[in-house]
Amino acid sequence: MKIVVLPGDGIGKEVTAEAVRALHAVIGSELPLELTEAVIGGEGLERFGDALPPDTLDISRKADAILLGGTGVPEDERRAPSEGAGYGLLKLRKALGLYANFRPVVLYPELVDASTLKPEIVTGVDLIILRELTGDLYFGQPRGVSRDETGARVGINTMRYTDAEIERIAHAGFQAAAKRRKKLCSVDKANVLETMALWREVVIEVSKQYPDVELTHLYIDAASMALIRNPKQFDVVVTGNVFGDILSDAAAMLAGSIGMLPSASLGDHNKGLYEPVHGTAPDIAGKDLANPLAAILSVAMMLRQSFGRDQHASRIEQAVRSVLREGYRTADIYQPGCRKIGTRAMGEAVVEAIRKQKVGG
Ligand code: IPM
Ligand code: MN
Repeated sequence: MKIVVLPGDGIGKEVTAEAVRALHAVIGSELPLELTEAVIGGEGLERFGDALPPDTLDISRKADAILLGGTGVPEDERRAPSEGAGYGLLKLRKALGLYANFRPVVLYPELVDASTLKPEIVTGVDLIILRELTGDLYFGQPRGVSRDETGARVGINTMRYTDAEIERIAHAGFQAAAKRRKKLCSVDKANVLETMALWREVVIEVSKQYPDVELTHLYIDAASMALIRNPKQFDVVVTGNVFGDILSDAAAMLAGSIGMLPSASLGDHNKGLYEPVHGTAPDIAGKDLANPLAAILSVAMMLRQSFGRDQHASRIEQAVRSVLREGYRTADIYQPGCRKIGTRAMGEAVVEAIRKQKVGG
């Protein structure tokens, strides 16, 4: 198993360290693990003047899977978007063709009271936001800031999707739904944007190949409301890059904290990129406060998706369940009566729980 670890910036470093510990704990000496660390984001800019140094791209291409912490630094606020630390990650996703970003939103029963929403609304939430990851406003041309003929400054980004790009993400959505509760909700803005009208048209065309999956459509504004009002109606939600970015942060609160959300970014090849949905949180970086569970759960997704190791994946998920059951909480999911611990101790608790598991009966 050749894995590249890209800790990135801020809390990315702390949470990936714990994720790697969990990986070692669950694999032990059963399988050969080859881990290589490389630089991305703000650290790449600082050391090599590039948020995605060529070496990093190169070894990422050669790896079976990539585990990433996060990219983004406070200095990004003073940089053009395409020169910031976060852009390194965007370039990596694009270069590797990782167009399908799965963001499962699962509320662990132990965390029902950690959600800001009423227990009866969120108990049992189990959905996936499937975000298209290599198109849309993020990559469409033209883009930039220029002057028009009157001398006014104009900012331009382009919402762009080809039918082929919509088709492949729609297939991913139908296939994911077919393995679950067989409901796919496609989220667009087809009433206003031509790109999104094409999106809806193509999704409907693709749906003919999946007669067993029930397809519904929502506009992004209505979808944001429905997600908070009655999240349990959703199984798989497929949407574009920008809407998916926004919707998945909102959906994080259904799971109690964004610190609980893992993700997998996949393409047409087996290689995947696994990362927590949360960012780099510079305000709490280096303080042993971050929740490492999203990164640890991303390792579980990696074991399942890239290596077909369902059992190892389940063991990590079980271990996360059991530390929550034992009352361990980082600050973001803390409730009175629980044991508040830091990043390091949470990682250690997961490793302990993995070690205590009885394997193979
Ligand atoms: C995410 C992040 C990234 C994105 C940033 C860091 C570029 O917010 O993965 O959701 O916008 O895709
Ligand atoms: Mn985001």
